[in-house]
Amino acid sequence: MGKGSGYGKVILFGEHFVVYGLPGIASAVGLSTDAIVKKAGALTVCDERAGTEGYSAAKKEHQRESFERMFDMMNLEEKGFDIWLGGALPVMSGIGASAASSVAIARAVSDELGLGYDDARINSTAYEMEKAFAGNPSGIDNTVATYGGLIWFKKNMAGGANDLEPIKIPRPVEIVMGNSGVVADTKAMVAGVAERRAHEPEKYDALFKAYAALVVKARAALEAGDLCAVGAFMDENHALLQKVGTSGVKLDELVALARANGAFGAKVTGGGGGGCMVALTPGKDLQERVADAMEAKGFRVLRTTIG
Ligand code: PMV
Repeated sequence: MGKGSGYGKVILFGEHFVVYGLPGIASAVGLSTDAIVKKAGALTVCDERAGTEGYSAAKKEHQRESFERMFDMMNLEEKGFDIWLGGALPVMSGIGASAASSVAIARAVSDELGLGYDDARINSTAYEMEKAFAGNPSGIDNTVATYGGLIWFKKNMAGGANDLEPIKIPRPVEIVMGNSGVVADTKAMVAGVAERRAHEPEKYDALFKAYAALVVKARAALEAGDLCAVGAFMDENHALLQKVGTSGVKLDELVALARANGAFGAKVTGGGGGGCMVALTPGKDLQERVADAMEAKGFRVLRTTIG
């Protein structure tokens, strides 16, 4: 029997922009997906992860493709395994559930077969698996799912090693992740951005330039512990994502609700079009107030910390 885990994540800055080689900032959330794998005659999956209604069913085909990609990466001819998935990370779009499960499964298969994969090898395997879910992923999700922590990430567009730097902040900070309840298709969202960018190159160049300047300031504010500034930059990042076309009615409603209840800043997180948003809510009291306001409107929330 092999076991493995992968962290869930929240993207604080840069979803979609990271796909094009701009830097992003993401943090592991303190919850993980766990996998247990046993050699078997056929491939079976028992998915006991809690979360968005219909998520696992909607992702079944992507998951099947991700397994094929993993078997290829690992050069496995025997593809029969009983795979169990569970853990405290709820499955919802925007929290890195696919990357967390890819990392957990790759670790568990390596453990079961005694392959001895190190983190770098797990990360590159999970990156291949992520292609099934995200089409052309940046690699930010699987990187955080593998290593955890708060990181500055920049995809190497030439295909070499990605730039990965840990970010240190003065103390962990409370956040609320609000779930729109809509299962999103990251692959379609990433493809949609690519299509719109090809049609409107000038508009997108300007948005990318604005984001590139923003993320550098956001990192400095995070490192300095200037949470008011971090929140304002998150708001700006959200406005850019609205222009990129990856927010949505429910996500905008959640963002407005968070701000109205005192969040320092709020934005879509992850692929968008559904899935989650994130609100910066330093301190337990503020975190509770914002989370309660969302729950009162019927949304599911996750109270967690970054850093
Ligand atoms: O929707 P999620 O949590 O899988 O996040 C996707 C992040 C994107 O930037 C949209 C895609 C990527 O590969 O970086």
